[in-house]
Amino acid sequence: MWPRPPAPALKTIVEQMLSILLEKIRSGRARVGTVGLGYVGLPLAVEFAAGGLEVVGFDRVPEKVAAVNRGESYVPDVPSERLAEQVRAGRLSARSDLTASGSCDAVIICVPTPLSKTKDPDLSMVVEAAKAVGATLRAGQLVVLESTTYPGTTEELILPLLEESGLQVGESFFLAFSPERVDPGNPRYHIRNTPKIIGGVTSACGQAALALYARAVDTLIPVSSSRAAEMIKLLENTFRSVNIGLVNEVALMCDRLGVDVWEVIDAAASKPFGFMPFYPGPGLGGHCIPIDPLYLSWKLKTLNYRARFIELAGEINSEMPEHVCRKVAEALNEREKSVKGSRILVLGVGYKRDISDVRESPALDVLRILESRGAHIGYNDPYVAELQLNDVALRSLDLLPAVREADVVVIVTDHRSYSYPEIVEAAKVVVDTRNATRGIASEKIVKL
Ligand SMILES: NC(=O)c1ccc[n+]([C@@H]2O[C@H](COP(=O)([O-])OP(=O)(O)OC[C@H]3O[C@@H](n4cnc5c(N)ncnc54)[C@H](O)[C@@H]3O)[C@@H](O)[C@H]2O)c1
Repeated sequence: MWPRPPAPALKTIVEQMLSILLEKIRSGRARVGTVGLGYVGLPLAVEFAAGGLEVVGFDRVPEKVAAVNRGESYVPDVPSERLAEQVRAGRLSARSDLTASGSCDAVIICVPTPLSKTKDPDLSMVVEAAKAVGATLRAGQLVVLESTTYPGTTEELILPLLEESGLQVGESFFLAFSPERVDPGNPRYHIRNTPKIIGGVTSACGQAALALYARAVDTLIPVSSSRAAEMIKLLENTFRSVNIGLVNEVALMCDRLGVDVWEVIDAAASKPFGFMPFYPGPGLGGHCIPIDPLYLSWKLKTLNYRARFIELAGEINSEMPEHVCRKVAEALNEREKSVKGSRILVLGVGYKRDISDVRESPALDVLRILESRGAHIGYNDPYVAELQLNDVALRSLDLLPAVREADVVVIVTDHRSYSYPEIVEAAKVVVDTRNATRGIASEKIVKL
């Protein structure tokens, strides 16, 4: 049977509800709630407040709530002055109790989406947040999910939880997915100037979400559904994971061929079309690239499809820390030493350059492998004063004394503040996994 057009009276109610919400957003009278005040939620809350809306941030960690209310930022990309300005102006506040989300016109969920022990999606925090929002859902509210997840989550998981309220999507409340594209530490692109994808569950949902994000983002890219928006985010991150996997394998091949992989990539990048450089390294890190593609492959498994590129890239990328440790062992062997009993210093433990985030950092794997083989391990990182490794707390060592004492120095993360000529000068041997020592001619350097 053909779907029936909505009854005229119902259509009018939907239109009225939408136009009230749009008017509130456009006139700056709308109240926005962000659930989860982490790397994604805090910058977003500040941007909406700076865009003139009243924002309430919700987080279950009381220390984060208290810090926001004091105007103190704990996210490196959010300067405390910017946060404090919004708190002082009365546009931004934080609280732990999600029951107040019912007073918001729009609620954006930005909670973590990790993997379980068996490497399956763990959506427990999204479910918990959606249930809490659903408990006080009222007619005319907009709910947006920003957490990265598999295609179908918004419609298959969030929608039924919200409809337990008795309200109907697209008729009495609005629901959309809009993936976060934050790139921590990027000085050029931030929330306002990074185009944002928006996919509504219905067309009215899409319109409501577009109006909301227009207060915080310059360029909006509407797509046809929440499912498409979820897939777009996973394409972006799978693209990176697969290309990094390819270039890591090229590095392994170049190693066997006796060719400098860095020279090969730099020269190939001179091609002005059809080539985009990716660089090898010690392995994937961070909360996104190592995890998100597994959300996609998990979903496809439920549809009897094997995501082969994702599996292969995952296999190669996760072998890179082992390759780095092989290089360290070879470098020691050349000097008639073994890993066991040697002092090995890792430089940079953040998962990427110039940031303090160590989640999924390959440096942790490198340190663990070397320690398990009997090395005396230590690290230096200007951004990470302390590091928890196998229940032991390590402290960042003083750079140059530690470099001088180490039998091998391993550059895992190429922070810009390091003086590489000075490090090479002071070190006995340097294993460089990032080409940080480019331009320095020294017999002491071993590249990936
Ligand atoms: N960090 C990034 O660079 C990045 C980039 C793009 C997308 N994402 C995605 O965004 C989502 C959030 O990531 P993040 O890096 O901001 O995580 P995060 O761990 O920094 O912050 C999440 C916050 O949510 C809070 N929280 C969890 N459950 C809650 C609940 N039920 N109620 C209230 N607060 C709750 C936590 O206490 C934490 O403060 C994830 O899906 C992630 O994949 C992250």
